[in-house]
This record gives sequence, structure tokens and C-alpha cells, in this order.
Amino acid sequence: MANWKYGDSWEKYPIEEDEIWQDPMSQSNIAVADLRNQLPFEIKTEMVYMDSPWSKGNVNSFITKAGMSSYIDSFECFMDCIFGQIKKIDPSVCYLEIGKQHKEDFIVRLASMYSCIEEWEIRYYKKNPCYLIRGADFITDTDFTGLDDEVTPLKAIQVEKPASVTDICTGRGLTLLAAHKFGARFYGTELNKRRLAVAIDRAAKAGIYYEKCSIQ
Ligand SMILES: C[S@@+](CC[C@H](N)C(=O)[O-])C[C@H]1O[C@@H](n2cnc3c(N)ncnc32)[C@H](O)[C@@H]1O
Repeated sequence: MANWKYGDSWEKYPIEEDEIWQDPMSQSNIAVADLRNQLPFEIKTEMVYMDSPWSKGNVNSFITKAGMSSYIDSFECFMDCIFGQIKKIDPSVCYLEIGKQHKEDFIVRLASMYSCIEEWEIRYYKKNPCYLIRGADFITDTDFTGLDDEVTPLKAIQVEKPASVTDICTGRGLTLLAAHKFGARFYGTELNKRRLAVAIDRAAKAGIYYEKCSIQ
């Protein structure tokens, strides 16, 4: 477990399940939540950007890292949960970072929601190939090919110019930071409280202060 503490951010920002933390300036909300369950606040947003786990092994590894044991047997069921949440959120544009293994499944599911699907090969950790797919009812003229996933959320939010962005696998906050950089309201949930605390810590270093919200 020691390896999965993700530093000491959680000791500084001890977010717990059943809490909503908010940036009062932008009215952005974040919470520890499992996307397989009902999300803890209502989300009305134009844009989803998320880098969810890409395979059964990857999901189960994140469950272990969160100190949990609610492992999945089927990645298809997990995808049902992801797309169930996206359908409820109902964004006008949806970006998903995905691996090769289930790429076609993700595309088919996204294509059942949107008339235009675009796909680019991008990179993670600056070298490994992965894919960015975008669903919307209009095409973007932006090319993300070859970009690293540290910059793709920034570029996507810069070009889409949404008033708000949602990431239900917020992790350590790349989408959160990108949303704030371009003045968008952010809604985020994440399974692992220690990873979400890293996002809160990074936001604070950028002058964005999330605090426990008293109205829940
Ligand atoms: C590939 S990482 C996302 C990285 C993220 N873009 C960042 O900036 O750190 C996937 C994230 O999904 C989270 N996750 C895995 N299973 C989840 C679940 N059932 N509900 C919510 N989040 C989950 C993991 O804990 C992990 O932080």
C-alpha cells in the first residue's frame, strides 16, 4: 500500500467519500466516487474529457491501488457503467482517451450517441501509443495526432471553449487543471481519494483552492 500513497497530498487535503469539495470562485465540484454507482452531485456540462481505465486488468489495478476489493469480472459491464454515466451527463462533446484493446467497442458506443466520431493516435508517458476519440454532432478541425496526453486535455478545452468540463476519472487532475486554465467550471469524481487529493494539491499550487463544501 505504501507505494500507492501518491505522496502526502491527502494528509494536506483529506477528502473523504460522501464529501463534496468545491472551488467557490468557479463553483467547481469534486468528490470521491465510484463511477459504477450513482454520482454524488448533478452534472450539467457541455463537455466530457476523460481517461478511464482501458482494460479489465487496468480497472482492477486501480481498485487495488484505491485499497478496495470490488474487482470487476467483465470490462464490458464497466463500459456499460462509463457510457451510462456519459448518457446521463449528456455533453455536446465527449473526448475519451483509450487503449488499443477495446478501441472499437468504445467507438461503437460513442457512435450510438453522436453523429460525428473522430480518432487520433496520441501518446502517453511521451512514447506509448494510445488513442483519443471525440464524439459530437459536428467535426472539429483540430489535429491531436502525436500529442502527449499531458497536453491533449488542454488543447481540447482550448479549442472547444466549453463553460464547463466533466471528468469522472479525475485521477491526479490533468483535466481539472486544464479546465481551470481556460476558465471553465469543473465537475470531477474519482475512485481513489489519495489520487484526488493530488489533484487538489496541484490546483492549490496553481492558485485554485478547493475546500470541503458545507452544503451537501
Ligand atoms: C488513467 S487514470 C486517469 C488519469 C488522469 N487523467 C490524471 O490526470 O491523473 C484512470 C483513473 O480512473 C480512476 N478509476 C478507476 N476506476 C474507477 C471507478 N470505478 N470510478 C471512478 N474512477 C475510477 C483511477 O483511480 C484513475 O485515477
